[in-house]
Amino acid sequence: MIDDKIVLTGIKPTGTPHIGNYIGALKPLIDLSQNHKTIMFIADLHALNAERDAKAIKQHTYEIAALMIVMGLNLENTAFFRQSDVDEIYKMSNFLMNVTPKGLMNRAHSYKAKVEKNTEIGEDVDAGVNMGLYTYPVLMAADILLYNSDIVPVGKDQKQHVEFARDIAGYFNNIYGETFKLPTPVIGEDTGVLPGLDGRKMSKSYDNTIPLFAPSNELKKKIMRIITDSKTPEEPKNPDESTIFQIYKCFANESEIAALRKRFLDGGMGYGEAKTILFEKIDSVLSEPRKEYERLMANKSEIDAVLAEGAKRAGFIAAKTIAKVKKKMLG
Ligand code: ADP
Ligand code: TRP
Repeated sequence: MIDDKIVLTGIKPTGTPHIGNYIGALKPLIDLSQNHKTIMFIADLHALNAERDAKAIKQHTYEIAALMIVMGLNLENTAFFRQSDVDEIYKMSNFLMNVTPKGLMNRAHSYKAKVEKNTEIGEDVDAGVNMGLYTYPVLMAADILLYNSDIVPVGKDQKQHVEFARDIAGYFNNIYGETFKLPTPVIGEDTGVLPGLDGRKMSKSYDNTIPLFAPSNELKKKIMRIITDSKTPEEPKNPDESTIFQIYKCFANESEIAALRKRFLDGGMGYGEAKTILFEKIDSVLSEPRKEYERLMANKSEIDAVLAEGAKRAGFIAAKTIAKVKKKMLG
């Protein structure tokens, strides 16, 4: 059943999506889109404060878009688009600047972290901080309020930004009268942290990732590089401490998971064999979507067409909001 609440979220295109991103962030969004009206965009404007390479932003935008499409995002329920393609966002962000206290921005976690780091190393507090970074929460509030969203599913690190959007909506409503709904942040079910090749959190900052759609030979090479302890094949092994098993759990069904768990506990299986089992599983689960992903990446106009349709749907809502806001602020 479709709930009539509007769910909104943005995905920042800052890297080639890896298995950790997929399991922790993208798959839960695809699942949500099956029974909610969803506004979902690739937040390319949010990438601008740190990424200076336009080609990289464009490429990562296509990668995420293609991934979402082939992994089953429900495009009937979802307006799926590029943030920068709906012109009203620039207006909204500018309007909201005028009701946002500077002090609120000073309290933003990511800005504060920069200031603390600068202080520690004896730099000027604002060294390396551009206005895009400083006003990042206003742009995010603009996203959230422009599309009348009710629910904003985010990771813990983004919760404060959604709370700021509520605050900014409140300031606006106080000055100009009831205009915006107050959005609610929803912290998704904790999918846990998926470990990467070296056992630390899979993250592009650690260079230990497995891209979701790595070609088969690259996938195999990466999996064979997963670091393990030095137990012999005969020894029983703890599946819950094994990166191989943690990743396997994301792709196998329940009986397959139980079977591999048993083989870990029983002993008699070397890590090389476990890696081969993991590789074969991922390779078979992803082989069809990977073909479709590669096809789309070679035909980007098809991705553009999906995103353009989404921008049209989102633009319709955005235009109405902007007309209302402009009237309230400028008469
Ligand atoms: P990275 O750590 O590679 O830079 P990001 O910080 O850009 O990834 O994360 C984007 C989203 O993917 C976030 O919502 C984050 O929670 C999720 N995510 C990233 N890595 C993992 C992981 N190893 N396990 C679970 N979720 C992850
Ligand atoms: N700032 C979010 C992130 O870094 C991405 C994002 C941009 C977003 N606009 C949003 C998330 C609006 C939720 C709602 O992950």
